[in-house]
Amino acid sequence: MTKALCVLGIESSCDETGVALVRFASHGLPELLAHALYSQIQMHQAYGGVVPELASRDHIRRVLPLTQQVLGESGRALAEVDVVAFTRGPGLAGALLVGAGVACALGAALGKPVLGVHHLEGHLLSPFLSADPPEFPFVALLVSGGHTQLMRVDGVGRYQMLGETIDDAAGEAFDKSAKMLGLPYPGGAALGQLAQMGDSTAYKLPRPLLHSGDLDFSFAGLKTAVMVQTKKCAVAYDIQAHALPLMVLADLAASTQAAIVEVLVKKSLAALKQTGLKRLVVAGGVGANGELRRQLNAECNRRAVRVHYPELHLCTDNGAMIAMAAAMRLQAGRQQAQMVYAFDVKPRWPLDAIGA
Ligand code: KG4
Ligand code: ZN
Repeated sequence: MTKALCVLGIESSCDETGVALVRFASHGLPELLAHALYSQIQMHQAYGGVVPELASRDHIRRVLPLTQQVLGESGRALAEVDVVAFTRGPGLAGALLVGAGVACALGAALGKPVLGVHHLEGHLLSPFLSADPPEFPFVALLVSGGHTQLMRVDGVGRYQMLGETIDDAAGEAFDKSAKMLGLPYPGGAALGQLAQMGDSTAYKLPRPLLHSGDLDFSFAGLKTAVMVQTKKCAVAYDIQAHALPLMVLADLAASTQAAIVEVLVKKSLAALKQTGLKRLVVAGGVGANGELRRQLNAECNRRAVRVHYPELHLCTDNGAMIAMAAAMRLQAGRQQAQMVYAFDVKPRWPLDAIGA
């Protein structure tokens, strides 16, 4: 890539509609010109989780107004967009189709190429938009609502899986535990906040696969342990779990968070040791967790390992990471943006299977 590129990114894989415009020069740092996000979380809260059909319908309502907002805030015209990028997968099929359909319609109308991006690659590369961008190679800890993976990253599109969860993702463990404590969906951030008031040693919870000798994770058993402990507390107080005193809920939250964070930190350190790499990148929604960041910073500092995160507001789903990943793939020559508008989406799509 020789000239500067203006990439419009559209994210619609789950319950957030994100649109962003990123300017990518051949030299220097990429520039986030504007980004806008509409979170559907409130709408899904009534159901305790994401309702796919409602998600798709809402993406359709939001995506064009958000695009207009981004263009307005960036001071750019639609005609100045060089490439339209969208999340091709993984995610909810109907939700993905909205972003793919709109991106291809815009591309066709403008006569500009489009490019489908892997959602997790977006998360993985999002720290390159931060004030402290990483350099290749690095170990990546990808911790989102649907995935928990450790990866060796040697460059754009050069991803080697080191370990992953065999059941629930870390974000799922946060969310399901939060639900048991009476916190609204998705609950991860709220559990983290409640945990700040609690004692992380109050309840002894399992650290699944901590000593398994590999880099895999398992969080399903922890969720059950949290449920059993919460019920025990409710019986002891002779009340419903949700009516437990705030301090008990805070202790449960802190103990749960400590179990999840300890496993994530120790396995990340093991991955660094195994690969001999001195750089760690943390990405995905759980990467916003304050305790995870505090412990990783301390442990990495002790080992002279540099650790990088996305900006806090870009940890969870957003359009900027999609624009960024598209631009980086183009710049690295990993993919061509094409004037082909017969899109398909990939609801299931392993990151290490994306190829060149
Ligand atoms: O990456 P993301 O936005 O969506 C997926 O691609 O899945 O991640 C969402 C997940 C949810 O499980 C949410 O509860 C969790 O990230 N999360 C957090 C925090 N903020 C978001 N978990 C723990 N602490 C947080 N501060
Ligand atoms: Zn995500």
